[in-house]
Amino acid sequence: MNALITARGITKHFGPTKALDGVDLDIFAGEVHVLLGENGAGKSTLVKVLAGIHGPDAGTIEGSASLAVIHQELALVPELSVAENLFLNRLPRRFGFVDRAEARRRAPRLLERVGLDVDPDAKVKDLGIAQQQMIEIARALDKDAGVLILDEPTAVLTDTETDRLLEIMAQLRGNGVGLVFITHHLDEIQRIADRITVLRDGRSVGVLGPGVSTRHMIELMVGRPIDEQYPRARQRPGRPLLSISHLSRRGAFHDITIEVRAGEVVGIAGLVGAGRTEVARAAFGVDDYDEGSVEVDGKPLRRNDVQAAIKAGLGLVPEDRKGQGLVLTATVGQNLELVTLGNRDRERLHDMVGKLRVKGSVEQPVKELSGGNQQKVVIGKWLLADPKVLILDEPTRGVDVGAKVEIYELVNRMTAQGRAVLLVSSDLPEVIGMSDRVVVMAHGRVAGELPGGATQDQVMALAVQEISA
Ligand SMILES: Nc1ncnc2c1ncn2[C@@H]1O[C@H](COP(=O)(O)OP(=O)(O)OP(=O)(O)O)[C@@H](O)[C@H]1O
Ligand SMILES: [Mg+2]
Repeated sequence: MNALITARGITKHFGPTKALDGVDLDIFAGEVHVLLGENGAGKSTLVKVLAGIHGPDAGTIEGSASLAVIHQELALVPELSVAENLFLNRLPRRFGFVDRAEARRRAPRLLERVGLDVDPDAKVKDLGIAQQQMIEIARALDKDAGVLILDEPTAVLTDTETDRLLEIMAQLRGNGVGLVFITHHLDEIQRIADRITVLRDGRSVGVLGPGVSTRHMIELMVGRPIDEQYPRARQRPGRPLLSISHLSRRGAFHDITIEVRAGEVVGIAGLVGAGRTEVARAAFGVDDYDEGSVEVDGKPLRRNDVQAAIKAGLGLVPEDRKGQGLVLTATVGQNLELVTLGNRDRERLHDMVGKLRVKGSVEQPVKELSGGNQQKVVIGKWLLADPKVLILDEPTRGVDVGAKVEIYELVNRMTAQGRAVLLVSSDLPEVIGMSDRVVVMAHGRVAGELPGGATQDQVMALAVQEISA
């Protein structure tokens, strides 16, 4: 069978960094070809070379199939409507003018295809990050390309949306489309991959068939086995460090009471829209609330005052790293110091970059780092600030399995030193595996609390429960 795309010996440097080193890749019609590798292994660079965004320093690419690419970083225009974004740069034109009415007419069918129930006239900036991702997917699907490349589309999706996307991918495969799929979720790979090319440090270290074990995938990509994916080390809890009491905001969350004690990791689980992020942001003072109170180490926090929260010893790693967590043009070092302003202790910066195994140097602009390595910098920044209580909102999105374990070990170290962590996560194995207790939210309320070691079914049973107002 002829490949749709044949790449041979692809090599790409960025200054001193060798991002790709002689990579071969075939993409066949009717296959899902997974690219697997640690953060910074070269996956996105390979995608950009295939898409013609980067010219390779060496190597050849042959093939005549048309290409549609969903890039790792969202490429929507926040100020424009959903319909306008769907047809961006290819809006139907009438008499030389952009035909907005036509775009609006065509949008619903496209949205339906990805199962997205949003108003085509809504501004993209008012949508959640998962919905934005689904719009990117719809946009790419409409191009009817012979090859579809998806660079970590599921990092921001929930289980339901991921299921939907995998279904669509299987359908396209059936129609003879060649798919390239990048994900750090190994279970998704087991569900859909026909072949897996493993990249390590810019080199292809193996092509695996379907049915390969998680252990084997990890060993090949990381270069060593990982025995414990969730190495939580429990502490005996001390005094309450974070007390969220009867917190309410109309239309968002109601009567939320959560206490996190010294040495504890408390998880918040729930479906998208359950109000988890809203509670985290209100507790930290990014947003206001109507009723209730927040205390850090026994002292009440002024509402809607982030500076006061930081001073009191609270930290928040936000879910949207690009919008809220990082200054992309600044260096890794400058970003790490954003919270600990004035602390110019280079030793500690290098130490943190090393501990998190950030692929990149302290002096490099953050925008030059791979997606997962940027996420590590957001977390490193807050770990360096050493708050009494750290709220982590989806901390390991886009982070590879090896680096996740490093982050969990740093969380363990925090709690061993008597700090407290509130962990908001849609990753059920993570929130169950790393929390000492799990609070489950549904429809803006606390639906129940489970001890650590609860099952995914127990969490889901509470998460989907209907609560009467
Ligand atoms: N524009 C750039 N300038 C400098 N270095 C870059 C640039 N783009 C990528 N790199 C470097 O190339 C290497 C590979 O990055 P790439 O984004 O391809 O990784 P990745 O496998 O996609 O990782 P992730 O899983 O984190 O998305 C990294 O060391 C990265 O810092
Ligand atoms: Mg990438």
